[in-house]
Amino acid sequence: MSRLKIAVLISGGGSNLQAIIDAIESRELDAEIKVVVSNRKNAFGLERAQKHNIKTAYIGVGNYKEISLRHRALLEVLVSESIDLIVLAGYLSILSPEIIKQFEKRIINIHPSLIPKYCGEGFYGEHVHEAVMLNQEKESGATTHFVDEGVDTGEIIKQERVAVFKEDTAKTLAARILKVEHHLLVSTIKAIQMGQVKIGLEEAKND
Ligand code: GRF
Repeated sequence: MSRLKIAVLISGGGSNLQAIIDAIESRELDAEIKVVVSNRKNAFGLERAQKHNIKTAYIGVGNYKEISLRHRALLEVLVSESIDLIVLAGYLSILSPEIIKQFEKRIINIHPSLIPKYCGEGFYGEHVHEAVMLNQEKESGATTHFVDEGVDTGEIIKQERVAVFKEDTAKTLAARILKVEHHLLVSTIKAIQMGQVKIGLEEAKND
């Protein structure tokens, strides 16, 4: 069984990244995080990675003004690290069509709702949970899916439901769903690593 070489792309706190790091360190996951990339310079997730001696890269407007340069820099990092799987873990930036094509069915995202509900343009972070509360939904959840050229439109891999209580606020709901995200993301990567979910790369599959 080959070790999956992962790149994790983040923009913020990186608690999902931490869940992956912990799963690798406890040997629940046979994978290696080759690099963590953030489009925000001060993302706390970068510190989390550095604490575990994982290579980090900041690729954002601060060091690459033009979007084409940012896209090219990211592609270069991913190719030079021979990445098998790109994990978007709270990455609030758009990938270039070139990266999506080159890594077809090798990019996954975690989204804090039950796709197809509350996803797509504008549904990120607190906005997702605010809309769920506004519509008095009885349940919400988290979804992992492959990334294609659309926003949250790629094939669904796994979902987990979470009850919504009357007394919830967007904040309490977000916190409960975030916990579910952590094991959903790890179990999705594990399913890929075990060959139960096929990705678009021969070498990444089980021998
Ligand atoms: C998570 O809710 C994720 O689903 C969303 O952004 C949040 C990231 O949280 N896309 P963290 O940075 O992993 O703590």
